[in-house]
Amino acid sequence: MKQVDRANYAPDMAYQDAPQSIGYNATISAPHMHAYALEILHDYLQPGMKVLDVGSGSGYLVSCMAAMTGDTGKVIGVEHIDQLNEQARKNIKKDHPEYLHQGRVELITGDGRLGYAPEAPYDCIHVGAAASRSPTELLKQLKAPGRMFIPEGPEFEQSILQYDKDADGEITKRALMGVMYVPLTDREAQLGE
Ligand SMILES: C[S@@+](CC[C@H](N)C(=O)[O-])C[C@H]1O[C@@H](n2cnc3c(N)ncnc32)[C@H](O)[C@@H]1O
Repeated sequence: MKQVDRANYAPDMAYQDAPQSIGYNATISAPHMHAYALEILHDYLQPGMKVLDVGSGSGYLVSCMAAMTGDTGKVIGVEHIDQLNEQARKNIKKDHPEYLHQGRVELITGDGRLGYAPEAPYDCIHVGAAASRSPTELLKQLKAPGRMFIPEGPEFEQSILQYDKDADGEITKRALMGVMYVPLTDREAQLGE
């Protein structure tokens, strides 16, 4: 995280340990939540690994993951608001243009609930918004072994779930802690259209 300057990704109060609005009813998550996610996924963010970040928003976590997976790794961010994706591209360009030039980071506009099949399978998947039900499509795109970090559940009843797929493809699920995330939803619902 020291290699990625949050001031290039958060419009203001970049160094406060709190989520900040980035527009379009989205937030850049609080630094402690990003740190926690990176710790949980650490073994699956090793040099050369491939990662999917669903709901990549400001692009901050994508850059942190790219710093960890190195110049032989790849991080795909999927965000459903095109304007946020454009802003993320600008943010990363200011901070680490080489991540884009070297193809270490790719930003896709689309519905992250479907993952991103063309680059699957992934060593790990991070989801930055709360899913209302089990992410079956995302689990299919996880490598064996692989790990997924995802907030799940209705508003005020969400937990971070860690899904582990073992080398035989067997999946186990563990609840880590209660949280409050914006919902993983339709573009129209998020924008109130
Ligand atoms: C809490 S923000 C986190 C963003 C990012 N981790 C960051 O810190 O900048 C959640 C993001 O998920 C996006 N999102 C919500 N539903 C989505 C969906 N179905 N597909 C893709 N992105 C989605 C939102 O637009 C928002 O940018």
